Amino acid sequence: MDLRGIVLAGGTGSRLMPLTKVTNKHLLPIGEKPMIYYPIEKLTSSGIAEILIVTGVEHMGDVVGLLGSGKDFGCRFTYKVQDEAGGIAQALALAENFADDHPIAVILGDNIFQANLKAHAEKFAAQKQGARILLKQVSDPHRFGVAELSDGKVVGIVEKPDEPKSNYAVTGIYFYDSTVFDVIRTLKPSDRGELEITHVNQAYIEKGLMAYDIIEGWWTDAGTFESLNRANELVAKMPPE
Ligand code: G1P
Repeated sequence: MDLRGIVLAGGTGSRLMPLTKVTNKHLLPIGEKPMIYYPIEKLTSSGIAEILIVTGVEHMGDVVGLLGSGKDFGCRFTYKVQDEAGGIAQALALAENFADDHPIAVILGDNIFQANLKAHAEKFAAQKQGARILLKQVSDPHRFGVAELSDGKVVGIVEKPDEPKSNYAVTGIYFYDSTVFDVIRTLKPSDRGELEITHVNQAYIEKGLMAYDIIEGWWTDAGTFESLNRANELVAKMPPE
């Protein structure tokens, strides 16, 4: 399977102001590297060589200046501008030409985690169609998409629920077959005016085409001061594989 990789690195980074006033969240340091290096290295270490970076127009120059062609990472980068922050699924829609009917691995640029993705990518390849998400038990599920599990299946996902049905957060690491772009075309904006990745996942659940794994090792996002701090501590203590 020729899996293509996508790193979504747009958004305004409003929860990290003023750190994000003149730069992109994904260029902030975690340990000894800019944040965006971590998701990129997760893709390359699982054998993915074609990687699309999606980011906002404001900081595209800095992102390209930092990452270049991909030569230094052993991969090839393509870049795409998201004109305005309209949600994760809207950013993903920009990847359709790049994906070119290949299955894709998508990582949110602020998701930092320990595990190697290779085993998950191989399981996704074996399922031939549909989608695969990675879950992690957390103590603060209301901050995330939360999966409801029953009989070894994901039966529903609720985005940032007041009363979570489990403590399984949906991490920002997703595998999709090429029909994902048709799914995105059917979406309507949510109450916060965004095309939600949770609605994409919900569509796969309804078709009975959603698989999942529990991700090993530590996982965190890094989009708030608290989680950015946690990401720094985790990377220092137990570097990602
Ligand atoms: C997004 C997704 C959410 C997911 C999270 C993982 O939330 O909407 O479902 O659990 O990423 O980091 P956001 O970071 O945009 O609030």
